[in-house]
Amino acid sequence: MIVSTPLNFAADALAPLISAETFAHHHGKHFAAYIKTANDLTVGTAMEALALEAIVRMAKRAANGALFNAAGQVWNHGFFWASLSPPGTARPAGALAAAIDRDLGGFAVMASAFIAAGAGQFGSGWVWLVAGGDGRLSIIATADAMPVWIDHMVTPLLVCDVWEHAYYLDWHSDRRSFLTAFIESLANWSLARDQYAAAIGTGDAWQFKADAALEPA
Ligand SMILES: [Fe+2]
Repeated sequence: MIVSTPLNFAADALAPLISAETFAHHHGKHFAAYIKTANDLTVGTAMEALALEAIVRMAKRAANGALFNAAGQVWNHGFFWASLSPPGTARPAGALAAAIDRDLGGFAVMASAFIAAGAGQFGSGWVWLVAGGDGRLSIIATADAMPVWIDHMVTPLLVCDVWEHAYYLDWHSDRRSFLTAFIESLANWSLARDQYAAAIGTGDAWQFKADAALEPA
């Protein structure tokens, strides 16, 4: 049974970059619908007790598109909520900042590449800052419900949702400005720091916490 994960901030804490109205729809309706579908397809089966990551991988192997899409979207959104923080959060420092400088040309160049990758993702999808096991950083866009760790041996550090439902109320069709707001003001660099440590073997990577909240799906 998958239950909803809460936001780590008040619904209006990111406004006007992401409004409370957007969270009401995005977290309260879209995310909840993915959870309901994933539960409808797993509760009462052998998969019910599995971690969400295992459900996603099993659905992919079994070519169960309906379950893969729903469970993948639950995971992606859980990580997206964790990737957000109110404006004013400190930017990368230490080993992560050094890796951004080394592999992506510094914060400004990295931000431009992240925005371009997200803006260039045709249709719906996700844009990820990731690290390989050797600590090398890269930016990858994935389509539709695809978590980046399905086809790439990487640890995600951050993700931004580029489905229209993520930004349309606040930015209309201006996905590029939404991506700019994310990478410049809203990205949770504390999460990225911890994920980078996990990528190079000095910590635990984020996992979807099935028991993180008591909200009914
Ligand atoms: Fe979304």
